[in-house]
Amino acid sequence: MTLPPDLTDTVAAAYRLHADQRDPLCAYIYDLNALQAHVDRLVAGLPANAELFYAVKANSDAPVLQALSDRMAGFEVASGGELAWVNRHCPGSRVIFGGPGKTAAELRAAVEAGVDCVHVESLLELERLSSIAERSGRTVPVLLRVNLNLSPDQVATSLTMGGRSTPFGMDEADVALAVDRAERSSGISLQGFHFHLLSHQLSADAQLALIDRYLAQLRSWRRRFGRAFPVLNVGGGIGINYRSPDQQFDWDAFCTGLRGRFGAADLQGTRIRFELGRYVTGFCGSYVMEVMDIKRNLGRYFAVCRGGTHHFRTPYAQGHSHPFHVLPVDAWTLPIARPEIRQQPVTVVGQLCTPKDVLATDTRLARLRVGDLLLFPYAGAYAWHISHHDFLRHPHPQQLYLPAEKRAKALAC
Ligand SMILES: Cc1ncc(COP(=O)(O)O)c(C=O)c1O
Repeated sequence: MTLPPDLTDTVAAAYRLHADQRDPLCAYIYDLNALQAHVDRLVAGLPANAELFYAVKANSDAPVLQALSDRMAGFEVASGGELAWVNRHCPGSRVIFGGPGKTAAELRAAVEAGVDCVHVESLLELERLSSIAERSGRTVPVLLRVNLNLSPDQVATSLTMGGRSTPFGMDEADVALAVDRAERSSGISLQGFHFHLLSHQLSADAQLALIDRYLAQLRSWRRRFGRAFPVLNVGGGIGINYRSPDQQFDWDAFCTGLRGRFGAADLQGTRIRFELGRYVTGFCGSYVMEVMDIKRNLGRYFAVCRGGTHHFRTPYAQGHSHPFHVLPVDAWTLPIARPEIRQQPVTVVGQLCTPKDVLATDTRLARLRVGDLLLFPYAGAYAWHISHHDFLRHPHPQQLYLPAEKRAKALAC
Protein backbone atom coordinates (compact mmCIF):
# COMPACT_ATOMS: atom_id res chain seq x y z
CA MET A 1 0.00 0.00 0.00
CA THR A 2 1.38 3.42 -0.89
CA LEU A 3 1.26 6.26 1.61
CA PRO A 4 -1.49 8.77 0.82
CA PRO A 5 0.21 12.13 0.12
CA ASP A 6 -1.49 13.80 3.05
CA LEU A 7 0.38 11.50 5.47
CA THR A 8 3.73 13.10 4.66
CA ASP A 9 3.51 15.62 7.50
CA THR A 10 2.33 12.93 9.91
CA VAL A 11 5.27 10.69 9.07
CA ALA A 12 7.73 13.56 9.57
CA ALA A 13 6.08 14.33 12.92
CA ALA A 14 6.32 10.68 13.98
CA TYR A 15 10.06 10.67 13.33
CA ARG A 16 10.44 13.95 15.22
CA LEU A 17 8.56 12.59 18.23
CA HIS A 18 10.63 9.44 18.12
CA ALA A 19 13.90 11.36 18.03
CA ASP A 20 12.81 13.45 21.02
CA GLN A 21 12.19 10.68 23.50
CA ARG A 22 13.86 7.76 25.24
CA ASP A 23 10.87 5.50 25.85
CA PRO A 24 9.37 3.48 23.01
CA LEU A 25 7.07 5.78 21.07
CA CYS A 26 3.32 5.61 21.20
CA ALA A 27 1.34 8.55 19.86
CA TYR A 28 -1.73 9.84 18.11
CA ILE A 29 -0.94 12.42 15.46
CA TYR A 30 -3.77 14.49 14.01
CA ASP A 31 -3.18 16.55 10.91
CA LEU A 32 -5.58 19.47 11.29
CA ASN A 33 -4.49 20.91 8.01
CA ALA A 34 -5.50 17.73 6.17
CA LEU A 35 -8.72 17.70 8.18
CA GLN A 36 -9.65 21.19 7.05
CA ALA A 37 -8.80 20.47 3.41
CA HIS A 38 -10.92 17.30 3.57
CA VAL A 39 -13.90 19.05 5.14
CA ASP A 40 -13.73 21.93 2.68
CA ARG A 41 -13.98 19.38 -0.11
CA LEU A 42 -16.95 17.66 1.53
CA VAL A 43 -18.83 20.92 2.04
CA ALA A 44 -18.03 22.24 -1.45
CA GLY A 45 -19.58 19.17 -3.07
CA LEU A 46 -22.95 19.40 -1.32
CA PRO A 47 -26.05 20.96 -2.88
CA ALA A 48 -26.93 24.47 -1.66
CA ASN A 49 -29.84 23.29 0.49
CA ALA A 50 -27.68 20.72 2.34
CA GLU A 51 -25.90 21.40 5.63
CA LEU A 52 -23.00 19.38 7.04
CA PHE A 53 -22.84 18.98 10.81
CA TYR A 54 -20.13 17.01 12.61
CA ALA A 55 -21.11 14.19 14.99
CA VAL A 56 -18.83 15.03 17.88
CA LYS A 57 -18.79 11.52 19.34
CA ALA A 58 -16.39 10.42 16.60
CA ASN A 59 -13.61 12.61 18.02
CA SER A 60 -14.38 15.41 20.44
CA ASP A 61 -10.84 16.73 21.00
CA ALA A 62 -10.95 20.49 21.38
CA PRO A 63 -8.32 21.23 18.67
CA VAL A 64 -10.31 19.06 16.26
CA LEU A 65 -13.58 20.83 17.02
CA GLN A 66 -11.91 24.23 16.76
CA ALA A 67 -10.40 23.29 13.40
CA LEU A 68 -13.90 22.44 12.17
CA SER A 69 -16.04 25.08 13.81
CA ASP A 70 -16.05 27.76 11.13
CA ARG A 71 -16.00 25.31 8.22
CA MET A 72 -19.15 23.33 8.92
CA ALA A 73 -22.76 24.10 9.75
CA GLY A 74 -22.23 23.06 13.37
CA PHE A 75 -22.00 20.12 15.74
CA GLU A 76 -24.24 17.20 16.59
CA VAL A 77 -23.96 16.28 20.27
CA ALA A 78 -25.40 13.19 21.91
CA SER A 79 -25.02 13.89 25.63
CA GLY A 80 -25.05 16.73 28.12
CA GLY A 81 -21.29 16.23 28.40
CA GLU A 82 -20.77 16.81 24.68
CA LEU A 83 -23.12 19.78 24.78
CA ALA A 84 -21.16 21.45 27.59
CA TRP A 85 -17.85 20.56 25.92
CA VAL A 86 -18.80 22.07 22.58
CA ASN A 87 -20.21 25.20 24.21
CA ARG A 88 -16.98 25.57 26.18
CA HIS A 89 -14.54 25.03 23.31
CA CYS A 90 -16.51 26.40 20.39
CA PRO A 91 -18.85 29.01 21.89
CA GLY A 92 -21.34 30.38 19.42
CA SER A 93 -21.33 27.27 17.20
CA ARG A 94 -24.66 25.85 16.12
CA VAL A 95 -25.48 22.69 18.03
CA ILE A 96 -28.05 19.99 17.37
CA PHE A 97 -28.77 17.60 20.22
CA GLY A 98 -29.67 13.96 19.64
CA GLY A 99 -29.01 10.55 21.10
CA PRO A 100 -30.92 8.02 23.18
CA GLY A 101 -31.70 8.23 26.90
CA LYS A 102 -31.55 11.99 27.42
CA THR A 103 -32.11 12.95 31.04
CA ALA A 104 -34.37 15.81 32.11
CA ALA A 105 -31.26 17.71 33.22
CA GLU A 106 -29.71 17.28 29.77
CA LEU A 107 -32.89 18.43 28.06
CA ARG A 108 -33.02 21.44 30.38
CA ALA A 109 -29.39 22.26 29.56
CA ALA A 110 -30.17 22.02 25.85
CA VAL A 111 -33.17 24.35 26.20
CA GLU A 112 -31.17 26.84 28.25
CA ALA A 113 -28.26 26.70 25.81
CA GLY A 114 -30.65 27.53 22.97
CA VAL A 115 -29.62 24.60 20.79
CA ASP A 116 -30.54 24.73 17.15
CA CYS A 117 -32.61 21.59 17.38
CA VAL A 118 -33.40 18.62 19.60
CA HIS A 119 -33.86 15.19 18.00
CA VAL A 120 -36.58 13.52 20.01
CA GLU A 121 -36.34 9.75 20.36
CA SER A 122 -39.72 8.79 21.85
CA LEU A 123 -43.17 10.04 22.83
CA LEU A 124 -42.10 10.22 26.47
CA GLU A 125 -39.05 12.28 25.61
CA LEU A 126 -41.30 14.63 23.64
CA GLU A 127 -43.49 15.06 26.76
CA ARG A 128 -40.44 15.74 28.93
CA LEU A 129 -39.01 18.27 26.52
CA SER A 130 -42.36 19.94 26.03
CA SER A 131 -42.92 20.50 29.74
CA ILE A 132 -39.33 21.70 30.31
CA ALA A 133 -39.60 24.14 27.42
CA GLU A 134 -43.06 25.37 28.43
CA ARG A 135 -41.90 25.95 32.02
CA SER A 136 -38.94 27.98 30.83
CA GLY A 137 -41.12 29.97 28.42
CA ARG A 138 -39.14 28.88 25.36
CA THR A 139 -39.99 27.14 22.13
CA VAL A 140 -37.53 24.47 21.04
CA PRO A 141 -37.08 23.42 17.41
CA VAL A 142 -37.54 19.65 17.24
CA LEU A 143 -37.01 16.82 14.78
CA LEU A 144 -38.63 13.48 15.44
CA ARG A 145 -36.13 10.67 15.13
CA VAL A 146 -37.95 7.82 13.46
CA ASN A 147 -36.92 4.26 12.77
CA LEU A 148 -38.15 2.87 9.47
CA ASN A 149 -39.03 -0.69 8.68
CA LEU A 150 -36.72 -1.56 5.79
CA SER A 151 -35.63 -4.69 4.04
CA PRO A 152 -32.19 -6.00 5.08
CA ASP A 153 -30.67 -5.11 1.67
CA GLN A 154 -31.54 -1.41 2.26
CA VAL A 155 -29.41 -1.31 5.44
CA ALA A 156 -26.73 -3.81 4.50
CA THR A 157 -23.71 -2.49 6.42
CA SER A 158 -21.84 -3.91 9.40
CA LEU A 159 -23.50 -1.52 11.88
CA THR A 160 -27.18 -0.66 11.74
CA MET A 161 -29.12 1.57 14.12
CA GLY A 162 -32.41 1.10 12.34
CA GLY A 163 -34.31 -0.45 9.48
CA ARG A 164 -35.08 -3.27 11.89
CA SER A 165 -36.00 -3.44 15.55
CA THR A 166 -33.54 -1.32 17.61
CA PRO A 167 -33.80 1.03 20.61
CA PHE A 168 -33.21 4.09 18.42
CA GLY A 169 -35.87 6.53 17.35
CA MET A 170 -39.62 6.12 17.52
CA ASP A 171 -41.73 3.60 15.67
CA GLU A 172 -43.37 4.87 12.49
CA ALA A 173 -46.67 4.00 14.16
CA ASP A 174 -46.03 6.71 16.81
CA VAL A 175 -45.40 9.53 14.36
CA ALA A 176 -49.02 10.69 14.09
CA LEU A 177 -49.33 10.93 17.88
CA ALA A 178 -46.01 12.75 18.12
CA VAL A 179 -46.96 15.27 15.42
CA ASP A 180 -50.26 15.93 17.15
CA ARG A 181 -48.62 16.29 20.57
CA ALA A 182 -45.95 18.64 19.18
CA GLU A 183 -48.60 20.80 17.52
CA ARG A 184 -50.41 21.27 20.83
CA SER A 185 -47.26 22.22 22.77
CA SER A 186 -46.20 25.84 23.01
CA GLY A 187 -42.72 24.57 23.92
CA ILE A 188 -42.18 22.59 20.72
CA SER A 189 -41.69 23.82 17.19
CA LEU A 190 -41.79 20.71 15.03
CA GLN A 191 -39.42 21.19 12.10
CA GLY A 192 -39.28 17.74 10.58
CA PHE A 193 -37.68 14.33 10.90
CA HIS A 194 -34.37 12.69 11.65
CA PHE A 195 -33.13 9.38 10.29
CA HIS A 196 -29.85 7.72 11.19
CA LEU A 197 -30.17 4.07 10.31
CA LEU A 198 -26.62 2.87 9.76
CA SER A 199 -22.89 3.49 9.85
CA HIS A 200 -20.00 2.13 7.72
CA GLN A 201 -21.71 2.85 4.42
CA LEU A 202 -19.14 2.37 1.65
CA SER A 203 -21.45 2.52 -1.36
CA ALA A 204 -22.59 5.91 -2.70
CA ASP A 205 -25.38 4.21 -4.65
CA ALA A 206 -26.69 2.40 -1.58
CA GLN A 207 -26.64 5.61 0.46
CA LEU A 208 -28.47 7.46 -2.31
CA ALA A 209 -31.08 4.70 -2.36
CA LEU A 210 -31.53 5.14 1.38
CA ILE A 211 -31.89 8.89 0.94
CA ASP A 212 -34.52 8.24 -1.74
CA ARG A 213 -36.42 6.29 0.89
CA TYR A 214 -36.12 9.17 3.40
CA LEU A 215 -37.31 11.71 0.83
CA ALA A 216 -40.26 9.51 -0.10
CA GLN A 217 -41.14 9.25 3.58
CA LEU A 218 -40.88 13.00 4.08
CA ARG A 219 -43.17 13.60 1.10
CA SER A 220 -45.65 11.05 2.35
CA TRP A 221 -45.79 12.68 5.81
CA ARG A 222 -46.10 16.13 4.23
CA ARG A 223 -49.17 14.93 2.37
CA ARG A 224 -50.60 13.09 5.35
CA PHE A 225 -50.15 15.87 7.93
CA GLY A 226 -50.55 18.79 5.52
CA ARG A 227 -47.38 20.46 6.81
CA ALA A 228 -44.16 21.58 5.13
CA PHE A 229 -41.65 20.10 7.64
CA PRO A 230 -38.78 22.37 6.52
CA VAL A 231 -35.89 20.34 7.98
CA LEU A 232 -34.82 16.78 7.23
CA ASN A 233 -31.80 15.24 8.95
CA VAL A 234 -30.47 12.24 7.03
CA GLY A 235 -27.95 11.30 9.73
CA GLY A 236 -24.37 10.19 9.39
CA GLY A 237 -23.06 6.83 8.39
CA ILE A 238 -20.54 7.30 5.58
CA GLY A 239 -17.82 4.76 6.23
CA ILE A 240 -14.09 4.37 5.82
CA ASN A 241 -12.89 1.33 3.95
CA TYR A 242 -10.32 -0.05 6.38
CA ARG A 243 -10.10 -3.38 4.60
CA SER A 244 -9.46 -2.01 1.10
CA PRO A 245 -8.18 1.52 1.70
CA ASP A 246 -7.76 2.19 -2.00
CA GLN A 247 -11.54 1.89 -2.46
CA GLN A 248 -13.12 4.66 -0.40
CA PHE A 249 -16.68 6.00 -0.53
CA ASP A 250 -17.13 8.02 -3.72
CA TRP A 251 -18.08 11.43 -2.31
CA ASP A 252 -18.12 13.15 -5.70
CA ALA A 253 -20.54 10.61 -7.19
CA PHE A 254 -22.63 10.85 -4.03
CA CYS A 255 -22.87 14.64 -4.30
CA THR A 256 -23.78 14.42 -7.96
CA GLY A 257 -26.60 12.08 -6.99
CA LEU A 258 -27.68 14.44 -4.20
CA ARG A 259 -27.83 17.43 -6.52
CA GLY A 260 -30.28 15.61 -8.77
CA ARG A 261 -32.46 14.75 -5.80
CA PHE A 262 -32.23 17.83 -3.56
CA GLY A 263 -32.81 20.11 -6.54
CA ALA A 264 -36.44 18.94 -6.80
CA ALA A 265 -38.91 21.85 -6.71
CA ASP A 266 -40.63 20.64 -3.52
CA LEU A 267 -37.30 20.58 -1.64
CA GLN A 268 -36.22 24.11 -2.43
CA GLY A 269 -37.37 25.44 0.93
CA THR A 270 -36.11 22.38 2.80
CA ARG A 271 -32.81 22.24 4.69
CA ILE A 272 -31.35 18.76 4.49
CA ARG A 273 -28.81 18.01 7.18
CA PHE A 274 -26.03 15.49 7.39
CA GLU A 275 -24.37 14.72 10.71
CA LEU A 276 -21.28 12.77 9.72
CA GLY A 277 -18.73 11.53 12.21
CA ARG A 278 -16.31 8.91 10.93
CA TYR A 279 -16.06 10.31 7.42
CA VAL A 280 -15.17 13.78 8.72
CA THR A 281 -12.35 13.01 11.17
CA GLY A 282 -11.36 9.40 10.44
CA PHE A 283 -8.75 10.32 7.84
CA CYS A 284 -6.92 13.02 9.80
CA GLY A 285 -5.60 10.86 12.64
CA SER A 286 -2.86 8.25 12.81
CA TYR A 287 -1.78 5.99 15.65
CA VAL A 288 1.95 5.32 15.87
CA MET A 289 3.52 2.48 17.83
CA GLU A 290 7.12 1.42 18.23
CA VAL A 291 7.95 -2.27 17.76
CA MET A 292 9.40 -3.51 21.05
CA ASP A 293 9.80 -7.21 20.30
CA ILE A 294 9.36 -9.65 17.46
CA LYS A 295 8.81 -13.27 18.24
CA ARG A 296 7.79 -16.51 16.64
CA ASN A 297 5.20 -18.42 18.59
CA LEU A 298 3.84 -21.79 17.42
CA GLY A 299 4.61 -20.96 13.82
CA ARG A 300 3.40 -17.32 13.63
CA TYR A 301 5.29 -14.07 13.96
CA PHE A 302 4.11 -11.43 16.41
CA ALA A 303 5.28 -7.83 16.68
CA VAL A 304 4.75 -6.63 20.24
CA CYS A 305 4.37 -2.86 20.20
CA ARG A 306 4.11 0.02 22.63
CA GLY A 307 0.40 0.72 23.20
CA GLY A 308 -2.48 -1.45 22.03
CA THR A 309 -6.23 -1.69 21.75
CA HIS A 310 -6.67 0.23 25.03
CA HIS A 311 -5.60 3.24 22.93
CA PHE A 312 -6.78 2.17 19.53
CA ARG A 313 -9.80 -0.07 19.78
CA THR A 314 -11.04 0.51 16.23
CA PRO A 315 -9.72 -2.73 14.69
CA TYR A 316 -11.12 -4.84 17.51
CA ALA A 317 -14.43 -2.95 17.57
CA GLN A 318 -14.92 -3.34 13.82
CA GLY A 319 -13.39 -6.81 13.57
CA HIS A 320 -10.85 -5.92 10.93
CA SER A 321 -7.12 -6.15 10.49
CA HIS A 322 -6.10 -2.49 10.37
CA PRO A 323 -3.85 -1.34 7.53
CA PHE A 324 -0.51 0.12 8.59
CA HIS A 325 2.80 1.36 7.24
CA VAL A 326 6.26 0.51 8.52
CA LEU A 327 8.37 3.60 9.19
CA PRO A 328 11.93 2.25 9.24
CA VAL A 329 14.19 3.48 12.05
CA ASP A 330 17.83 2.74 11.35
CA ALA A 331 19.36 3.66 14.70
CA TRP A 332 20.04 0.68 16.96
CA THR A 333 22.12 1.14 20.10
CA LEU A 334 21.79 -2.11 22.04
CA PRO A 335 24.86 -4.38 22.14
CA ILE A 336 22.83 -7.35 20.82
CA ALA A 337 21.75 -8.42 17.35
CA ARG A 338 18.66 -6.53 16.21
CA PRO A 339 15.72 -8.90 15.70
CA GLU A 340 14.18 -8.64 12.26
CA ILE A 341 11.97 -10.57 9.88
CA ARG A 342 11.76 -10.39 6.08
CA GLN A 343 8.95 -11.40 3.74
CA GLN A 344 6.86 -12.81 6.58
CA PRO A 345 3.27 -12.39 7.71
CA VAL A 346 3.20 -10.72 11.12
CA THR A 347 0.45 -10.11 13.65
CA VAL A 348 0.69 -6.75 15.42
CA VAL A 349 -0.22 -6.79 19.10
CA GLY A 350 -0.04 -4.35 21.99
CA GLN A 351 0.95 -4.59 25.64
CA LEU A 352 -2.28 -5.94 27.13
CA CYS A 353 -2.56 -9.35 28.80
CA THR A 354 -5.30 -10.50 26.47
CA PRO A 355 -5.19 -12.32 23.16
CA LYS A 356 -7.74 -9.78 21.94
CA ASP A 357 -5.13 -7.02 21.92
CA VAL A 358 -4.57 -7.36 18.17
CA LEU A 359 -4.41 -4.48 15.72
CA ALA A 360 -3.47 -6.29 12.52
CA THR A 361 -3.40 -9.97 11.67
CA ASP A 362 -0.92 -11.86 9.48
CA THR A 363 0.10 -8.83 7.43
CA ARG A 364 2.91 -9.74 5.05
CA LEU A 365 5.83 -7.34 5.37
CA ALA A 366 8.98 -6.97 3.31
CA ARG A 367 10.98 -6.21 6.43
CA LEU A 368 10.33 -5.41 10.08
CA ARG A 369 12.85 -4.73 12.81
CA VAL A 370 12.53 -4.13 16.52
CA GLY A 371 12.70 -0.36 16.92
CA ASP A 372 10.82 0.41 13.68
CA LEU A 373 7.63 2.44 13.93
CA LEU A 374 4.22 1.30 12.73
CA LEU A 375 1.80 3.96 11.57
CA PHE A 376 -1.90 3.13 11.50
CA PRO A 377 -3.81 5.65 9.36
CA TYR A 378 -7.60 6.17 9.48
CA ALA A 379 -7.37 6.54 13.26
CA GLY A 380 -8.97 9.96 13.67
CA ALA A 381 -12.50 8.77 14.49
CA TYR A 382 -13.87 6.23 16.97
CA ALA A 383 -10.28 5.38 17.90
CA TRP A 384 -8.91 6.95 21.11
CA HIS A 385 -12.44 8.01 22.04
CA ILE A 386 -13.90 4.50 22.10
CA SER A 387 -10.91 2.86 23.83
CA HIS A 388 -10.63 1.60 27.41
CA HIS A 389 -7.67 3.86 28.25
CA ASP A 390 -6.86 2.76 31.77
CA PHE A 391 -6.99 -0.99 31.41
CA LEU A 392 -3.59 -2.12 32.83
CA ARG A 393 -2.66 1.50 33.56
CA HIS A 394 -0.08 1.82 30.85
CA PRO A 395 0.75 5.43 30.02
CA HIS A 396 -1.54 7.19 27.61
CA PRO A 397 -0.14 7.90 24.15
CA GLN A 398 1.19 11.31 23.27
CA GLN A 399 -1.37 13.40 21.40
CA LEU A 400 -0.01 15.71 18.76
CA TYR A 401 -2.09 18.08 16.63
CA LEU A 402 -0.27 19.34 13.58
CA PRO A 403 -1.39 22.93 13.41
CA ALA A 404 -3.89 23.87 10.79
CA GLU A 405 -2.08 26.98 9.63
CA LYS A 406 1.19 25.15 8.90
CA ARG A 407 0.70 24.66 5.17
CA ALA A 408 -0.50 28.22 4.64
CA LYS A 409 2.64 29.49 6.38
CA ALA A 410 4.89 27.17 4.39
CA LEU A 411 3.37 28.44 1.15
CA ALA A 412 3.88 32.04 2.20
CA CYS A 413 7.64 31.49 2.84
C1 LIG B 1 -27.61 9.71 15.74
C2 LIG B 1 -26.26 9.61 15.13
N1 LIG B 1 -25.90 10.51 14.22
C3 LIG B 1 -24.69 10.48 13.63
C4 LIG B 1 -23.76 9.50 13.96
C5 LIG B 1 -22.44 9.50 13.28
O1 LIG B 1 -22.30 8.35 12.52
P1 LIG B 1 -21.05 8.15 11.58
O2 LIG B 1 -19.85 8.36 12.41
O3 LIG B 1 -21.19 6.76 11.08
O4 LIG B 1 -21.14 9.18 10.49
C6 LIG B 1 -24.11 8.52 14.90
C7 LIG B 1 -23.18 7.47 15.26
O5 LIG B 1 -23.43 6.57 16.00
C8 LIG B 1 -25.39 8.58 15.51
O6 LIG B 1 -25.77 7.69 16.41
